Amino acid sequence: MTGLLGRLAAIVGERNVLTDDASMTPYVNDWLGKYHGSAQAVVRPGSAAEVAAILAACRETGTPIVPQGGNTSMSGGATPDASGGAVVLSLTRMNRIREIDPIGNTITVDAGVVLAHVHTAAKEVGRHFPLSLGAEGSCTIGGNLATNAGGVAVLRYGTMRELTLGLEVALPDGRIWDGLTALRKDNTGYALRDLFIGSEGTLGVITGAVLKLFPEPKAKATALVAVPDAEAALSLLALVRGKCGDRLTAFEFMTGACIDLVLRHIADARIPFGAVPPALVLVELSDTDDDAALNARLEDALVAASEAELALDATIAQDIAQAKASWRLREGISEALVREGKAAKHDISVPVSRMAEFIAAADRAVAAVSPGVRHVVFGHLGDGNLHYNLLRAIDMSEADFAVLAPRLTRVVHDEAKAYRGSISAEHGIGQLRVGDMPRYKAPIELELMAALKGLFDPAELLNPGKLLPLSAKQ
Ligand code: FAD
Ligand code: MLT
Ligand code: ZN
Repeated sequence: MTGLLGRLAAIVGERNVLTDDASMTPYVNDWLGKYHGSAQAVVRPGSAAEVAAILAACRETGTPIVPQGGNTSMSGGATPDASGGAVVLSLTRMNRIREIDPIGNTITVDAGVVLAHVHTAAKEVGRHFPLSLGAEGSCTIGGNLATNAGGVAVLRYGTMRELTLGLEVALPDGRIWDGLTALRKDNTGYALRDLFIGSEGTLGVITGAVLKLFPEPKAKATALVAVPDAEAALSLLALVRGKCGDRLTAFEFMTGACIDLVLRHIADARIPFGAVPPALVLVELSDTDDDAALNARLEDALVAASEAELALDATIAQDIAQAKASWRLREGISEALVREGKAAKHDISVPVSRMAEFIAAADRAVAAVSPGVRHVVFGHLGDGNLHYNLLRAIDMSEADFAVLAPRLTRVVHDEAKAYRGSISAEHGIGQLRVGDMPRYKAPIELELMAALKGLFDPAELLNPGKLLPLSAKQ
């Protein structure tokens, strides 16, 4: 290897610089099968110092870098463009748990650690790391941080930003910022940490993090509740919160169309009701108490919901297998969607209390553009975050739907904006939504973001074309 590739090989060892198409394939295509890029190499560093050295070499040679963790992005954020000029910087070799402190309730990890491994490490010392999402077996802490990931426990514990105390970041100029603090209070100026969280690999490469731990919940109670519509689901949310308080950990909504899809595509999926209801809510409580007390509390709430005619039917999982089956229904939706075809994916948020209104308005707006389009609406209702996804009408070709999809996305995003909502609650902008930024972000926000980008990465080499449109310099 010569030139840049020779330098990269000198930093990480030749076996950690992949250049042949077969080895690079998993790194240059995305999970959804929507983005297909190309790269001159995939480089796999083993330490923060190696990451910094790679960034310095790329800066000297003007080489674009695409940071990548588990490559589970839902917005094409970790896929290089098709030019073949970029280097993909894969963090997956950096998978060390550096330290666990059960008294301070912190865990310090390399950025490439897989989320599920953090769960296991925390559990081993009787603690809990609460970020939880369908991709947790392959997504990494660095990717979770770079997208400020949400998932199914935000209602109780918050997003990745709220779960993080400190960061270590390799900067585009080759320096390392050591912000690996475990402090819960620190008022010494601008919160650099929060700037890197959610920056989608455009300001620096996160190499390590100090995360918050919580007491391990000893009891869990999980119910599937059939509801007539989203409005009833919102009233149910208020009722369960009132009766169960902070024990409410997850409140996940899915329409009957989502369940139909899961039952069709996921072999082991089952519903505990005779027929598919109009909509379902998965409710989970957790506590340090015992299972029986928690189940009784949930049952009490569900009886009240039924008396108030909010619940059509409900079932509480009697053991871990039944709880897992309930989650399989919910978490199988993304996989089932991919199997069904290319969806127009949305990740909007609006104020929680206005979610039912938003769904009705978006349904009308979408039907006005294309009446036959199938709505596959699910998500984190308790956080005001919906994956308002759309699939082609049964009699429409994939090609015709591909032409229609941007118009559908426009009406969905315009509706979210009308409710003072966001076009990305948790998946990030990536390349999927970058073209929408000027329409939905205020000019002053874009101006400040561009100024920050110019400060950290003046040569625009870090994840170009993601999150922010390329500047006129490019
Ligand atoms: P990647 O996909 O590799 O990268 C994502 C972004 O982060 C890219 O912009 C990349 O450049 C950047 N990046 C990665 N590592 C670093 C680093 N070390 N430093 C700087 N930048 C970096 N997301 C949710 O929020 N909630 C969900 O409920 C959820 N469910 C999902 C379910 C499934 C089945 C799948 C496939 C995805 C889901 N996602 C969800 C989306 C995705 O898994 C998360 O966004 C996850 O946090 C991405 O982690 P990753 O390691 O795979 O990141
Ligand atoms: C989820 O909540 O399951 C996701 O964030 C994924 C999706 O939109 O498919
Ligand atoms: Zn989600």
